Amino acid sequence: MSNLSQKSELTFKHNLKQGRHGWLRLTPAYSVKIVTDILERLGEPQRVLDPFSGTGTTGLVCAERGVNCDLVDINPFLVWLAKVKTDNYTLGELDAANQLAETAVKAARQHPVTENLWIPPLHNIERWWDSERLIALARLFRGLQISECTGKARNLTSVAFCRVAIDWSNAAFNHQSMSFKSPQLSLFSQKESDFIFNDFLVKMQQIISAAKNNIRGQVQVYEGNPRYLTQILSEKYDCVITSPPYVNRMSYIREVRPYMYWLGFLQSAREAGELDWQAIGGTWGIATSRLNTWNPGDTVIGDDSFDDMLQGIRNCSEPLANYVHKYFLDIKTHLLSLQEVLLPGANLFWIVGNSKFYDTLIPVEQIYVKILESIEFRDVNYTILRKRNSKKELHEFLISARAS
Ligand SMILES: C[S@@+](CC[C@H](N)C(=O)[O-])C[C@H]1O[C@@H](n2cnc3c(N)ncnc32)[C@H](O)[C@@H]1O
Repeated sequence: MSNLSQKSELTFKHNLKQGRHGWLRLTPAYSVKIVTDILERLGEPQRVLDPFSGTGTTGLVCAERGVNCDLVDINPFLVWLAKVKTDNYTLGELDAANQLAETAVKAARQHPVTENLWIPPLHNIERWWDSERLIALARLFRGLQISECTGKARNLTSVAFCRVAIDWSNAAFNHQSMSFKSPQLSLFSQKESDFIFNDFLVKMQQIISAAKNNIRGQVQVYEGNPRYLTQILSEKYDCVITSPPYVNRMSYIREVRPYMYWLGFLQSAREAGELDWQAIGGTWGIATSRLNTWNPGDTVIGDDSFDDMLQGIRNCSEPLANYVHKYFLDIKTHLLSLQEVLLPGANLFWIVGNSKFYDTLIPVEQIYVKILESIEFRDVNYTILRKRNSKKELHEFLISARAS
């Protein structure tokens, strides 16, 4: 029965206390333990690739063990975060980060509460922060901006700022995706800005402490679309460890949107929608309306059972059937381009979840197996890693294969 438990040590929750891994959460991040177990089983690969790297878990686990690893993600903020998490820092850079944090808090404390503050153009920002917290964050942000300090020191303070911004927000992460708590009335309204500033300094110290650990392996992080890997990568890989987006309509942009607006990676809702459309599995904003008229062309995905599954969804919703169809076409395009960057015999591992729409279960693991075998990967297998939530059919799988 152990396969059927939810095993939180195999999710991002395990990472929150693991030094740099806990710097900033992303719900779909996978556990350090999954990557560690795979690497221990394999011995030391020469060079690992994660083409859907998210917060950089694969890269950081590899590099901490001295294994070189390349990462690709489509989201520029996650690319930045993975770089910051896998960088090495000199004592001088850590000292500069500390100084910048202290000067920023001093400036924030002195700044008049309402004057000339920049507030990020995040839609419905009041759902994220009530006005008092938002003003405190904006004062802190301004304090950071007025310093001319750049580079690695600034990067570390930006991570601490993001941590504080999310911890003082109304976002709740009890679900597979994110929701909002109703705003809490503070018992200490006068002093809340002080709590926020102090919390920032505490988090800065935690970040600096983890940043002191030297990272032995080389990590390169590329922004790009894993459907076209040969345009991005020039190396060949003997190992791939990755978790592609799940076919569950979850937006990877949604949860990281506040960081992206504060740090200037996004300027408008339209940009967020465009990024979601580029992402495999994106369905939000502009992506939703485009799916209504999307045409699959003539690439074949699976066999009759795939078509039957699509028909089951189509009976309830045409755009949703298009969404599922497009997801697997994109995954197939990605896998074909992945083959081009692999060494013969390379070991590949995918962590994927299945999904259910209406009454139709999408057997994601079996569809991956069929696609992989149809394009001549060998030794294709899967095992159940854990149960995903209370629905009894929803699981996370580890799929493995070897390159020909
Ligand atoms: C399941 S998450 C991976 C999380 C990662 N394992 C971690 O521990 O943080 C999937 C990632 O794929 C990225 N992604 C989705 N579609 C993409 C695409 N078309 N190209 C590149 N990255 C994409 C998302 O930005 C997201 O970071």
